[in-house]
Amino acid sequence: CGIIGITGAGAVVPRLIDSLKRLEYRGYDSAGIAAVVDGRIERRRAKGKIRELEAVLAAEPLSGTIGIGHTRWATHGAPTTANAHPHKAGRVCLVHNGIIENFAELKAELEAEGRVFESQTDTEVVAHLLDHKLAAGLTPLDAFKATLDRLTGAYALAVLIEGEDDLILGARRGSPLVVGWGEGEMYLGSDALAVGPFTQKISYLEEGDYVAMTRSGARMFDASGHPADRPVVQVSASSAMVEKGAYRHFMEKEVHEQPDSVQHTLSEYLDLVTGAAKPQSVDFAAVDRIQIIACGTAFYAGQIGKYAFEKYAGLPCDVEIASEFRYRSPALTPGTVAVAVSQSGETADTLASLTWCKAQGLKTAAVVNVHTSSMAREADVLWPTHAGPEIGVASTKAFTAQVSALLALAVAAGVARGKIDATREAELVKALFEAPRLIAEALQMDGQIRAIAHDLAKATDVLFLGRGAMFPLAMEGALKLKEISYIHAEGYAAGELKHGPIALVDEKTPIIALAPLDEVYEKTASNLQEVAARGGPVVMIAPASAPAPHGAGIRRVDAPDCHPLIAPLVYAVPVQLLAYYTAVQKGTDVDQPRNLAKSVTVE
Ligand code: G6P
Repeated sequence: CGIIGITGAGAVVPRLIDSLKRLEYRGYDSAGIAAVVDGRIERRRAKGKIRELEAVLAAEPLSGTIGIGHTRWATHGAPTTANAHPHKAGRVCLVHNGIIENFAELKAELEAEGRVFESQTDTEVVAHLLDHKLAAGLTPLDAFKATLDRLTGAYALAVLIEGEDDLILGARRGSPLVVGWGEGEMYLGSDALAVGPFTQKISYLEEGDYVAMTRSGARMFDASGHPADRPVVQVSASSAMVEKGAYRHFMEKEVHEQPDSVQHTLSEYLDLVTGAAKPQSVDFAAVDRIQIIACGTAFYAGQIGKYAFEKYAGLPCDVEIASEFRYRSPALTPGTVAVAVSQSGETADTLASLTWCKAQGLKTAAVVNVHTSSMAREADVLWPTHAGPEIGVASTKAFTAQVSALLALAVAAGVARGKIDATREAELVKALFEAPRLIAEALQMDGQIRAIAHDLAKATDVLFLGRGAMFPLAMEGALKLKEISYIHAEGYAAGELKHGPIALVDEKTPIIALAPLDEVYEKTASNLQEVAARGGPVVMIAPASAPAPHGAGIRRVDAPDCHPLIAPLVYAVPVQLLAYYTAVQKGTDVDQPRNLAKSVTVE
């Protein structure tokens, strides 16, 4: 979704619309704006594209010199006018991107206070909570801080308050927000593109920041409420540069977009409000086997999918590299669904395998990010990922979007097959929707990872280890490092190391272990002791709460605690950052590594 807010020197409505048009690429199933008119807040909303909102405005014009706008990509609740933003409660009117995980608990609390809700959305809860604090006599800024302190989730907010004719409040947690500096007016936007028509002077809010913006300036605060001056940077007018924003490389930007891209993808398959998996057109109860076919990073996403389909749905699942699958005459049973996994939807080997399966009479599906691609058109069922355009050749957000889709589909399959009851379904859906927040937390591991990358850049060989779904992630970690830093790396199942590769271990071979606190944690920890005992420098990425393995030479990197189901999503972040910072340290061409192509349409 896209957010814009303007504390204007003149009329803002035409400019809010102008900005929303630039944000349409982020979502366009409904849109809305609100403005302060004669001390009162008025809003206009419409289902569909921005031109529908323009038609509403033509019929019912809106004036005002301070306002907010939103273009929505529905994540839960149908794309109707009633569910369109801004949402209102009492004196508060606001727009929101992201997820409020604890909305149900807050809603129950507010309903007990006598508050009446109009919509099913998590957003409306924030409006009521803030209005409640204002009604209790708090100042807007104190009420806003007190509200933010109650919210769990990954989100960005822009807020108008009735009676405050020179104020827009904003907050950023997991979902980006920028402040734009103008002459006698100020802007708030979900990215630099949103404020691009008005100013090139931008301050990027940092994780947990909030802001009080008037016509003459902005006061920014960090998560603990201390004043925080975020530097004003001049962004270039060229759209590619604006798109890269505060980041040095597209890859870095795309890694940071994952709270949003994962949320959007999960919401395609799961409903936050009902806590249920959405029904699928594939009848999983009638399926005997899933055959995933993919290349490169998508192949590792598929392998993570296999762990989930078998564990949560009791559904046998095979995963194969497309270039092997297509030439080996695989023996498939009629009850098999063939699933191609691909960012581009054009990879020649994957497409050919999909076409072959279809010709064999199998039901086919495609998990793809480019929804107009050949695979999207060829497959019987399209299972979209919503990562948005991925520019960096080394895949990051497309990978976590593929994993998100496959995990959510595994839960849907488990429900359809009677392997998951309603209680378990609610638990797993809740866990999945925690991923955006925990990915945002994992992005805060930045400093620790940079320090490790500094040492890694000197290595000639690196081993990545993991068990369970962390095994394919270890292979993806090794692939990422190879692709952009040109350091030789291998991913191994932690338990397999002693059957050969342990011979490689010496003090010059760093070992990166992915060790979430799951049912095999103890096993992984003991494998690490084995390598540490042989002089291998081990970096163990694990939650701080995990019991420390004994043995010298094990360096810990603290990762967020998470449900084992979403560990591949959360641990993907340190793995990607490690490759990224190592490559930056080595000075390689991160976004366009040598010899590689984003989309391989030859076999
Ligand atoms: C190329 C890219 C990889 C990608 C693979 C599969 O090799 O460099 O990053 O994982 O193709 O691409 P796809 O578009 O099918 O996911």
